Amino acid sequence: MPERLGITITKHIAASQRNFPEASGDFSGLMTEMIVAGKVIHRAVTKAGLVDVIGKTGSMNVQGEEVAKLDDFANLTLIQKMDHTGYLCGMASEEMEDLIEIDDKHPQGGKYTLAFDPLDGSSNIDANVSIGTIFSIHRKISDAPKGIVDDFLQVGRKQVAAGYIIYGSATMLVLTFGNGVHGFTLDPSIGEFLLSHPNIKTPPRGKIYSVNEGNAAKWDERATRAVEYFKTDDKATGRPYSTRYIGSLVADFHRNLLYGGIFMYPADKSNPNGKLRLLYEASPLAFICEQAGGAAISNGEDILDIQPTSLHQRVPLYIGSKDDVEICRDFLARK
Ligand code: AHG
Ligand code: MN
Ligand code: MN
Repeated sequence: MPERLGITITKHIAASQRNFPEASGDFSGLMTEMIVAGKVIHRAVTKAGLVDVIGKTGSMNVQGEEVAKLDDFANLTLIQKMDHTGYLCGMASEEMEDLIEIDDKHPQGGKYTLAFDPLDGSSNIDANVSIGTIFSIHRKISDAPKGIVDDFLQVGRKQVAAGYIIYGSATMLVLTFGNGVHGFTLDPSIGEFLLSHPNIKTPPRGKIYSVNEGNAAKWDERATRAVEYFKTDDKATGRPYSTRYIGSLVADFHRNLLYGGIFMYPADKSNPNGKLRLLYEASPLAFICEQAGGAAISNGEDILDIQPTSLHQRVPLYIGSKDDVEICRDFLARK
């Protein structure tokens, strides 16, 4: 007997589009192209070590970080795959200082913006540890002929879609269109993402806290107390929690989404606004997390309500199971 396969991502997108009778098909087209880009990056990631994609390029990115060859590859793959589709008015990438305009030689008039972290967790590439691609889609709001920065500086709550592709023990796409969260696993033998995790809901409380505790001496007292809470012994509330920290946000987030738990990257003396980027990391994951019943805050404020002021803005991030995040919100509000 042939195996019974899960719903393909293509079918899922088509079914979702039927919920929006005014939809022109552009959004489905955009998602379809995005998924192809993800498969190309998956192919490169799974060959790392065999072909020349491991190591650093020798240059620094706009964030002042060393660029890995795979960072560069993933970034260029997304740009080249998406720039000529006609669906986008522009793109913003963690790796590029300025907005990526749609060249005049390509179709213009795209209705959507795409912001992405082409490869998250890139310090883990050479050690064969899970990494991912994170993306966020908004509708264009300006009347400008091409996308302008204001089109990208929209609150997270206005996202049309957000997702990530995690290149782990399997490659998975986790996606929300603002109507629940679904996970699709890539079956590399047929090249299709198949629905494997329908309607993901994160537990209201977890048993895991994820934070780079090497920075503890640099945290502000409120962050220290919040982290301390999860380490304190209290049978009734299932504490202490376990520490799990991969150092790839996408992988730490994904595990906590499924098992329950909280990921924290507080502000510290070296990074007064935290390390993680609002548009490429915090906002898309916050949208997914809320859609799965979780929560995400910065210094007490919901990530999805923050009005971005610049493309590469950083924010402190507390994200995961709702009750755990609310505990942090409480600690952060105290003096
Ligand atoms: P990126 O690889 O896109 O630059 O992101 C790295 C981020 C994130 O993935 C991770 O959670 C965090 O950096 C880890 O930072 P520390 O090494 O400071 O813990
Ligand atoms: Mn990242
Ligand atoms: Mn990155």
